[in-house]
Amino acid sequence: MDNFARHNIHLKTERLRLRPFEDADFDLAVPFYRDPDFLNAMEGDPPDEPVTGDYLRRAGKHMAKQGFLFAIEEKASGRTIGEVCLQWMNLERAKIEGEKVMRLPIGIWDKTLWGKGCGKEVVQCLMAYAFEELGIDRFCAMDVHAENERSKALWRSCGLTISREMDNGKILDFEIARSEYRRLSLGY
Ligand SMILES: CC(C)(COP(=O)(O)OP(=O)(O)OC[C@H]1O[C@@H](n2cnc3c(N)ncnc32)[C@H](O)[C@@H]1OP(=O)(O)O)[C@@H](O)C(=O)NCCC(=O)NCCS
Repeated sequence: MDNFARHNIHLKTERLRLRPFEDADFDLAVPFYRDPDFLNAMEGDPPDEPVTGDYLRRAGKHMAKQGFLFAIEEKASGRTIGEVCLQWMNLERAKIEGEKVMRLPIGIWDKTLWGKGCGKEVVQCLMAYAFEELGIDRFCAMDVHAENERSKALWRSCGLTISREMDNGKILDFEIARSEYRRLSLGY
């Protein structure tokens, strides 16, 4: 294994597998990043240079150092369909003294798969891993574009609420604290 992601965590959901992201996965991602719908949802402002495998590798390397970078695989087909990073909080505005805080950038590459529940399976799985195995205090989604209805619905349906609005409400942060996560998982 090339061990690009520097971890060895393998997780499963009903339809998906999460495995350490590998170097070769960046080349699989490139055509999807060239789709403006996906690129805008992931990056907001278009990058100054064309998206290449090396461009994604540079960003991925940075992320892999800050947490656990996974490829998302469809169990049925064995196809790699996206990326997700369970990442220690790297933005000052969301850090809280004495708390372990994580965030979760996620992208399902193939837009024909959007809205079919894959995102929710991944988020629920990694949220449980973060609270229950890593013992975090707070779980966040950062820099969500207010017009990204699917993303907002995803975070809300996983129990997160808006914690911060920026740029006149165009950019939103979401979060859920451990106490609320416990309340929801115990069903009261
Ligand atoms: C955002 C993303 C990860 C969501 O994953 P997904 O698999 O498409 O979403 P799901 O099917 O799991 O749906 C999650 C929730 O959103 C709802 N939803 C799905 N499509 C929706 C739409 N077009 N409008 C509003 N709500 C929608 C679902 O009903 C579900 O809520 P529910 O459980 O209460 O019914 C995925 O669409 C994606 O990768 N998009 C491009 C990149 C991106 O936007 N990343 C997030 C950046 S913050």
